[in-house]
Amino acid sequence: MTPCALQRINPTTTLPLLRRTATAPLFPSIPPFSFLSSTSPSPHLRFSFSLSRGVAHALHKTRCLCSKLSMSQVVVRDPDVLERKKASIRDAGPGKLQVIADFDGTLTKYWCNGVRGQTSHSLLQQGNAEYDAKRQALYEYYHPLEISPTIPIEEKTKLMEEWWEKTHGLLIEGGLTYDAIKKSVADASITFRDGVVQLFEFLEEKDIPVVIFSAGLADIIEEVFRQKLHRSFKNIKIVSNRMQFDESGRLVAFKGKTIHVFNKNEHAIDMAAPIHDKFGSSDSPDVNGTFVKDRTNIVLLGDGLGDLGMSDGVSFEHRIAVGFLNSNIEKSLKDYSEAFDIVFLNDAPMWGVVDLVSELCSMKQ
Ligand code: TMP
Ligand code: MG
Repeated sequence: MTPCALQRINPTTTLPLLRRTATAPLFPSIPPFSFLSSTSPSPHLRFSFSLSRGVAHALHKTRCLCSKLSMSQVVVRDPDVLERKKASIRDAGPGKLQVIADFDGTLTKYWCNGVRGQTSHSLLQQGNAEYDAKRQALYEYYHPLEISPTIPIEEKTKLMEEWWEKTHGLLIEGGLTYDAIKKSVADASITFRDGVVQLFEFLEEKDIPVVIFSAGLADIIEEVFRQKLHRSFKNIKIVSNRMQFDESGRLVAFKGKTIHVFNKNEHAIDMAAPIHDKFGSSDSPDVNGTFVKDRTNIVLLGDGLGDLGMSDGVSFEHRIAVGFLNSNIEKSLKDYSEAFDIVFLNDAPMWGVVDLVSELCSMKQ
């Protein structure tokens, strides 16, 4: 088994267990996480987890989630719970399974060619420098608040409402066009995590529906699929903020209620639920008539705590929540490892999830 740091975490002792050790460069081309660079002269640091007593057992029991993640870390707070969920989902079979995934920072890399990867919002160049600068200033103000481990969720929810409202207003006021979207995506630093295509292909082959539930922009995400993957998948449905254009291709409005990072739970019930009733609608192909609502086992993929609300529209039996912890790692690991069954660190590829779903779809033993 490839060595990996898989640990049973005691929530009360998580942080003391987290040691930093200077080692050979982990990702030489990737800028260091900011908290590391400010506290150490070496930009190339990696996490090292001391192994608790249960870890050998956990490593034995948990099929290697990180067979292709030799340089990344995986944290599983309670391997026994995870094993039980996996067994139940496997026993129910692929016909009961669906995947709900966030887009930015989950399906896409947080770091892209050594710079911060762009999001479906941040990649947009409106062709109007003044408005691009205004949106960038909003990002610089609000994004640290979004990922702050100390601001309460209720307060963050209000802040995120403000951010999304102002940004969407600027996109309309600044005259965004569909042509500018196409050009922005072509020029963007946005990359899917390694293994995402294989994940989608596997799920498509097994007829397992995927709902991409994003607080980003549906039209941009679709363009990213077209330009970066050159294909679509019949089992994927995108639930995100959708734009409305006039005949000349200018953005005039957004359809429906705004989805931001901390109200996905409300949307899961009010808006996404009809999608769960019957997967597919007039503008997207049905997955062989599959009813997503009846798929009561979920693999949820997210990079924010608000992403856990994505499954609120389904009364699920079993859910395995997989989190990608991209920033503020030291301060957020405790919350993430309590909220998600599996946490991937260091901008890990998607291979661990590919292994997970193939295990969930394997024949009962
Ligand atoms: P997600 O739900 O697919 O992760 O998309 C939301 C992300 O978009 C969130 O992490 C913050 C980011 N974002 C920007 O980068 N720029 C913006 O202007 C806004 C409103 C959000
Ligand atoms: Mg995200």
